[in-house]
Amino acid sequence: MEVLRTVDDMQVHADGARQEGQSLALVPTLGALHEGHLALVRTALEEADHVTVSVFVNPTQFGPDEDYDDYPRDLEGDKEKLKALGVDALFAPPVEEMYPYADDESRQLSGPLAWVGVDRLDETLCGAYRDDHFRGVTTVVTKLFHACKPDIGVFGKKDAQQYVILKHLVEDLLFDIDIVGGATVREADGLAQSSRNAYLDDAEREQATVLYEAVTAAREAVEGGEQDAQAVVRAMDTALATAPDAEVEYAEVVDAHTLQPIDHLAPGEEVLAAVAVYFGDTRLIDNAFVQVPTA
Ligand code: PAJ
Repeated sequence: MEVLRTVDDMQVHADGARQEGQSLALVPTLGALHEGHLALVRTALEEADHVTVSVFVNPTQFGPDEDYDDYPRDLEGDKEKLKALGVDALFAPPVEEMYPYADDESRQLSGPLAWVGVDRLDETLCGAYRDDHFRGVTTVVTKLFHACKPDIGVFGKKDAQQYVILKHLVEDLLFDIDIVGGATVREADGLAQSSRNAYLDDAEREQATVLYEAVTAAREAVEGGEQDAQAVVRAMDTALATAPDAEVEYAEVVDAHTLQPIDHLAPGEEVLAAVAVYFGDTRLIDNAFVQVPTA
């Protein structure tokens, strides 16, 4: 496995693979890899000849009060896991490589001068609570695409809003890259795997299954014929209320493509039921994409 630390080296490496006629996949991550990430890597290995995984804790997607400094970092452990799977390249740039002039005090800059963003899609769900988060994601993913030059990018549906936003990004801006979605990998009791699960204490960990229970309740309600979005939300709220330490940020049903709120679930449409919950300082999310039955 090649380990690339600079954009130049990454681009030369990607060009080399492309000249050999290989198709390229990229799996972007923040590192501290768990089974959810590794499942995406396996999908990438099936879908393309050459697989690059990026490990980059992207400062521009973390808010000032979020866990950027404390975010788990384990590059050596990540390297071993990726090598064992047969990944071709690991792109792990230092922050200065991705944001060279972000902290240039002589020019009084405190961030990039060019950004990539979406409209409306980033105003609902997590976007309503995490200012500028998705602007950081779309900007860094664009840069990672330009550095790694993939044919496909593989992303988890666990981060449903991110996945939908990136689909619109490549479509609307004519990136010649397909976004491939991977199913959410869960613990045995249903909790979606996340690097942030490690922050939970025993009592919180036990209660954290309510996120999956809530989105499962939403799925069952929709598939059972419920067409009133508020009734589906009530089913989620009932499940979430069983966890005494859960502080619910949102539980919502939106259109799966526009991410806008809906009142009535139209037969044949796809909806997204999504929740965000705090246990102490730890913020967890989960969701379900559900097809509204036609009959
Ligand atoms: P990160 O949280 O490290 O996640 C990397 C990828 O793994 C994302 O596509 C995410 O949706 C997916 N993923 C995380 N947990 C998963 C699970 N339990 N099952 C399936 N897939 C899972 O998401 C990011 O990083 C960043 O925003 C990034 C896209 C890398 C941009 O910085």
